[in-house]
Amino acid sequence: MKSAVEELRRADHIVVLTGAGMSVESGIAPFRGEDGLWSEFDPQEMASVTGFSKHPERCWQLFRLQIEECFGAKPHEGYEALVEMEDHGLEAVITQNVDGLHQKAGSKKVLELHGTLNELVCDSCGNRKDTEEMVGEILDGEIPYCECEAVMRPDVVLFGEPLPQNTLNEAWSAVEDTSLIISIGTSSVVQPAASLPLTAKRSGSTIMEVNVEPTQLTPRADHFLEGKAGEILPELVERLKDF
Ligand code: APR
Repeated sequence: MKSAVEELRRADHIVVLTGAGMSVESGIAPFRGEDGLWSEFDPQEMASVTGFSKHPERCWQLFRLQIEECFGAKPHEGYEALVEMEDHGLEAVITQNVDGLHQKAGSKKVLELHGTLNELVCDSCGNRKDTEEMVGEILDGEIPYCECEAVMRPDVVLFGEPLPQNTLNEAWSAVEDTSLIISIGTSSVVQPAASLPLTAKRSGSTIMEVNVEPTQLTPRADHFLEGKAGEILPELVERLKDF
């Protein structure tokens, strides 16, 4: 932890990449691992373009569960620590998460690579709505229909869909300019997010990882902090302030 705090103190530019593990302590299930969503739902069936076009109502079983978790969730202290880190060089949070908790906590620059559950979109006419507008019906088990009568869906990136290009471009340039990237709570298996820390390293950045267990990124990390995001991050920032 000591060398990690010194690294943080030295870094002029910091970028963070978060995954589902960042939200576990706020009560949101991860995707992989024994209690992950993918052990209960088949992602190709329930979270893919083909799955949604074939049986949107089945996909809404998963969407509803995610929306229920996300709307009831509060950012834990790890999120607040990242907001404080903005006073120590943190320039952007790049997240794979769709729960909006970084924004809820007050992070200023959040790049949502995989979209958000907080907006609904109609693939047929392009109509958009805040999920908030229909969250009552959704949690009552209804499926949100657009005024054009097509089924709406959360504005998340489904398997088989490209990532939002502008957001991705912003993420690439953020990691190319950073001196430190902190990867938090991601299994580092899904592309292109998993390549961001390595791209940063190629541009001369240091890699720090926070996770409850080693991942595919760990052998390439300069610092591996084993533990929960909600415990490690507040301690990191607390010690940073002691300098
Ligand atoms: N603190 C830190 N890390 C944690 C915690 C915690 N409290 N709890 C779990 N983790 C770690 C796990 O060890 C794992 O490495 O978080 C990671 C969660 O991995 P995944 O569930 O695979 O989530 P993620 O890496 O974000 O998945 C990437 O895959 O299915 C797609 O679109 C989905 O955005 C998602 C993408």
